[in-house]
Formats: sequence, C-alpha cells, structure tokens
Amino acid sequence: MNITILAAGQGKRMHSNLPKVLHPIAGKALAQHVIDTARSLSPDRIVVIYGHGGETVRTSLAAEDLLWAKQEPQLGTGHAVMQALPHLGVSPQTLVLYGDVPLTKPETLKRLLQAGRDGLAILTVTLADASGYGRIVRDAAGKVVRIIEEKDATTAEKSIREINTGIMALPTARLTEWLGKLSNQNAQGEYYLTDIVALAVAEGLPIHTAQPDAEWEVLGVNSKVQLAELERIHQLTLANNLLEQGVRLADPARLDIRGALTCGRDVSIDVGCIFEGKVTLAEAADIGPYCLLKNVSVAAGARIAAFSHLEDAIVGPDAVVGPYARLRPGTELGPEVHVGNFVEIKNSKIAARSKANHLAYVGDAEIGERVNVGAGTITCNYDGANKHKTIIGDDVFIGSDTQLVAPVSIGAGATIGAGTTVTRNVEPNQLAISRAKQVAFDGWQRPKKARKD
Ligand code: UD1
Ligand code: MG
Repeated sequence: MNITILAAGQGKRMHSNLPKVLHPIAGKALAQHVIDTARSLSPDRIVVIYGHGGETVRTSLAAEDLLWAKQEPQLGTGHAVMQALPHLGVSPQTLVLYGDVPLTKPETLKRLLQAGRDGLAILTVTLADASGYGRIVRDAAGKVVRIIEEKDATTAEKSIREINTGIMALPTARLTEWLGKLSNQNAQGEYYLTDIVALAVAEGLPIHTAQPDAEWEVLGVNSKVQLAELERIHQLTLANNLLEQGVRLADPARLDIRGALTCGRDVSIDVGCIFEGKVTLAEAADIGPYCLLKNVSVAAGARIAAFSHLEDAIVGPDAVVGPYARLRPGTELGPEVHVGNFVEIKNSKIAARSKANHLAYVGDAEIGERVNVGAGTITCNYDGANKHKTIIGDDVFIGSDTQLVAPVSIGAGATIGAGTTVTRNVEPNQLAISRAKQVAFDGWQRPKKARKD
C-alpha cells in the first residue's frame, strides 16, 4: 500500500509563523504523529504533500523513508493527491491521511484498508454537530453515492450527520484518471478529492465506510483551541494507559508525557509532573509534585521530591532527590544517595550513600561512597576557559561553605574544615582547613542610625 499525507494547507487560524503541521502534541509535531502512525502500517512508500511553510516542513520532518511532493499553489485536496501521483508505485491501495489529524489509531486504519480492498473506503463518523464537514450522501438502500461539501450542500444535505473525516483508502490504479476528471466548479473553486467518490460509484465500484473507535481519532487541528483540546485528550489517554498498568497517578488530568515513559510496578506520580524524551521509572519509584524529568532513569525505590528538575541523569536505587534539586546532564547517582534542596549537580558521579543535602554546586566531579558534602559546598570547576575535575574519595567529610578549586583531589577519609578553600590536593585521612584566625573585640559598639524625630 501507498500512504500519502496531505500537509500543504496553511492553517491561518493558528495565528503563527510556525507551519500548522509542525505544532506539537505531546512534544511531537502533528505531522510527525501522522508519519509515525503511517510507518507502523509498513507501507511500500509514504509521500508527504507539503506547500505552505515550504522547506521548513520538509527539513523539520526529513527522514530517509519519506518521499516529498510540493503543492504550490494549493488548489484543494484532489489537487494535493495529484502531486503524489508521480511517486506512487504499483501498490493496489493508496491511503490518504491528513497531516493535521494526529491521533488516528493504526487499528482503525487497518480496518479501513481491509474494508476498501475491493473498491474504495472512507473513514466516517456520525457527529452531533456536523457543521463544517463534507457529508456522506447515501441512497435509499444505504449505499454511499457521493460526498457533498458543506459549502455546496442543500439544506437537506446539511442535515446529514455522517461526515467525511477525509481519511480514505483508494484504488491506486484508478487515481490518475479520476483526478484528471476533477473540476473546480464548486463553492470554493477547489479540486475536491471527495468528488472521486461519485466517479467511483458511476463505475460501479463498491464504496465502503469504516469508523474509528473514538471520535478524537479523527479530530483535526485548525486553531490553538483545538490543539489544546487534543493535547488534553491525548494526555488523558496516556494517563489512563498508565493507570491500567498499575501506576498510581494522584490525578490523571494533571500529568504531561512528551515522549516515552516506562514505569515498573508500584510507581507513584504526584500532580503536575512533566516527562520528556525517554524516561524510565523502576519499581516503586516515587515522583513528587511538579517535577520535570527529561531523558532520565530512576532506579527502584528512589524518590524524587517536589519541584525537582532532572535532565539526562541516572538516579540509583533508593536514592532521594529534592525537593528543589537540579540534576543536569551527566549526573549519575549511586544507590541511596541523597541530594537535597537547592543542590545543582552536573556531569558528576556520586557513589553509594553519599549526601549533598543543602545548597551545593557539584560539577565535573567524581565522589566516592559515604561522602558528606556540606551545605554551601562549591566545586570551582571553571577557570573561565576550561572545565576541570574534582575527585573525592570514599568517606570524605566536606565541611560547610567549602570551595574546591579544580583540578583537585581529596583522598579517602579526609576531612575539610568548614569555610575552607581547597586549592591543593588533600591526602587520605588528612584534615585540611584554610580559615583566617578568629579575632574578638570586647564591648564592640555597632554603628547606630541617626534618629529623625
Ligand atoms: C476536507 C474534506 C471534507 C472533510 C474535511 C475533514 C475535501 C474537499 N473536503 O475539507 O469532506 O469533511 O476535510 O476535516 O477534501 N490540503 C492540502 N492541499 C490543499 C488543500 C488541503 O494539502 O490544497 C490538506 C490540508 O493541509 C489538510 C487537509 O488537506 O491537512 C484537509 O484540508 P482542509 O482545507 O482542512 O479541508 P476541508 O475544507 O476541511
Ligand atoms: Mg479542515
């Protein structure tokens, strides 16, 4: 089978410089959803019709397996499919999809293709309010005779509630002739793809219809309102899938997945969390409220507390992160590591049971096991030109308000006194301290503010 994706339309009502089909649902372009669904059907070829937004659409969606046909100007859906003709092979069926209808399920499309094997099949739905859509006109026996666009419809035809979703399975061999016969003598002055239905009927070809399981599968996006509505529908579907798998969600309506989220048994997710890219939460992982996790793996039993931000990071088993922690790319936390509030970690490995509980910056560091990183500890990893490493051995105790000027290493078991600026390597089990001697003055009078009476 061939698949052609119509994505040349303008999308005026989006009020945006970004071409409509590039607007995202769940962090992925509308047209990318359609392309991914198309791929899942293993077609012989996928031809994308683009035009409005031009090369931006093509370059943003480019992939080796896609063929492209430019439609300029855009003279209607029939004219759009015509542009695909030179790319269509001998495959008997051609499935037409819309680049702005992102959530159609592959099973629905398989049913449509099955229905259309001996002729032509249209994906239809019956809507409470059919306004704006092309209507499916049937004869007294219930056979489809044609599709009439709303703008060309009589009052009686407008009362039909079964509509054309636009998605169709067509016999490839007939397309060149039918599309050649289309005229634009209609209310919109366009070449309607829908007019080929009457041509097929005239040839005695059987016309079938198939229906999606849910109405949202055929909803298109024409405005930001519809984009937001479809996003919520999609997110709720994803959330329900998680619930079905046994994930505990504090509120399925307050979760956003923009990528692939994989959860083990007894995972718990509080409200307001966003998951981007590839995120894995192992058994009994517990994600507190309002966390953002992007390309993160959280091991079994680990807890990410409220308002934490993690990106390209690995969290070990039974670790505790946050509240208000930031794990930047390259962070790897071992088992039972604790990272507390206002701690930023970047490109660093922290081994088992080490703790950085308050206010610290750890960058380009390797920290051993059972290390205590005191409040206010800073790795000075950057000299203005280059980044340098800080190596800290097992069982080191770093007192509060310490600067570790990299490159520097602290041997196992060493102690760094509070307030120290470490500029030279510290040997194992040493105490290192750099602190001005404390002086004291008796009866010190603080300056007073002059009083204005
Ligand atoms: C079309 C159908 C209508 C159906 C409705 C479903 C026709 C004539 N009408 O109407 O029966 O109920 O969709 O939403 O087919 N496109 C191009 N090139 C063009 C015109 C459109 O690529 O020249 C693309 C658009 O980007 C869009 C799709 O085709 O993805 C549908 O175009 P749109 O203008 O929305 O068609 P409707 O008038 O809504
Ligand atoms: Mg439309």
